[in-house]
Amino acid sequence: MKKITVSAPGKLMLLGEHAVVYNKPCLVTAIDQRIRLTIEAINKPEFHLHAPEVAVLHNKKPMKEIGQGAIPKGAKFVEIAVKNILNFLAEKSPSAIDMRIPSGLKITTKSEFSSQYGFGSSAASAVCTIKALSELLKFKFTPEEIFDLSYKTILDVQGSGSGFDVAAAVYGGTIYFVTGGKTVDQLTISHLPLIVGYSGIKADTVTLINQVKEKADKYPQIIEGIYSEIEKIVNEAKVSLLKKDWQSLGELMNFNQGYLDALGVSNSKLSDIIHAARGGGAYGAKLSGAGGGDCIIALIPEKKRNTVEKAIKKAGGSVIKVKTNAEGVRVEDNVY
Ligand code: PMV
Repeated sequence: MKKITVSAPGKLMLLGEHAVVYNKPCLVTAIDQRIRLTIEAINKPEFHLHAPEVAVLHNKKPMKEIGQGAIPKGAKFVEIAVKNILNFLAEKSPSAIDMRIPSGLKITTKSEFSSQYGFGSSAASAVCTIKALSELLKFKFTPEEIFDLSYKTILDVQGSGSGFDVAAAVYGGTIYFVTGGKTVDQLTISHLPLIVGYSGIKADTVTLINQVKEKADKYPQIIEGIYSEIEKIVNEAKVSLLKKDWQSLGELMNFNQGYLDALGVSNSKLSDIIHAARGGGAYGAKLSGAGGGDCIIALIPEKKRNTVEKAIKKAGGSVIKVKTNAEGVRVEDNVY
């Protein structure tokens, strides 16, 4: 029986969150903490899923019911991704698909990071599923096809999102990204002197997107104005990043944090950690992602790493060691 293991990286939003949902750019980097997914063809007409980190333990259902009925929260991204790729292939090459589809599938996932951090485990697991199943069925997908099917999966499951996390998982590296993959500009950078601080609070991305949407419905011109300012910040930040002008990049992160505060997605815990990082000597610091919790990022002079880490801990945050600019989705192992 065929068995394939793939892995995809998590991500950190650098600048541009929320505005990127509304046709603006953002900067995102892939991190060295990965999701691994193993897919196996089995003889029984059953779909098995074991994803312990999201509390899905040895789930089983008939293959023909994939994507139907009540799907546990943690299983949705993988199961809907399977449904989407099978539908896509059935349309693309109906004759080939019948010959290649195995009777059943068994999927196991394993994460190197907690799904509490907001490192994009949902997007990375959707991308792993599409990549692994396409390899198993021997359909060579382009990165764009993997992106499109994975992004469709995210929209099917959560209804909104820019796809920036999907792009990080597919392409890796550090990317200047516009909503839905309209622009995916891979930036050549070697390293990024960052510290990641976890707030200890789990944030719900969709809730925060909806909160910002309510504000935008009430104050359309003001919020549109904020998105435009964030766009300018992201565009300047891209230049600073490419020049390794950390001082300016840090200042731009601080501007971005000001606008995120204005959108109402920061909170006192995040603010405390951000201000502690700046006080400890960071060039700049901001929340990363939807806000409301999850992580902050601080851009630092290397000689200040210890001081900033201590300041983050003193403010109640914990430091998570990550390396940025990691490789995108890849096959780890296959057995035929
Ligand atoms: O919650 P996270 O870390 O996945 O980040 C969400 C970022 C948003 O811009 C708010 C949403 C999106 O899909 O771009």
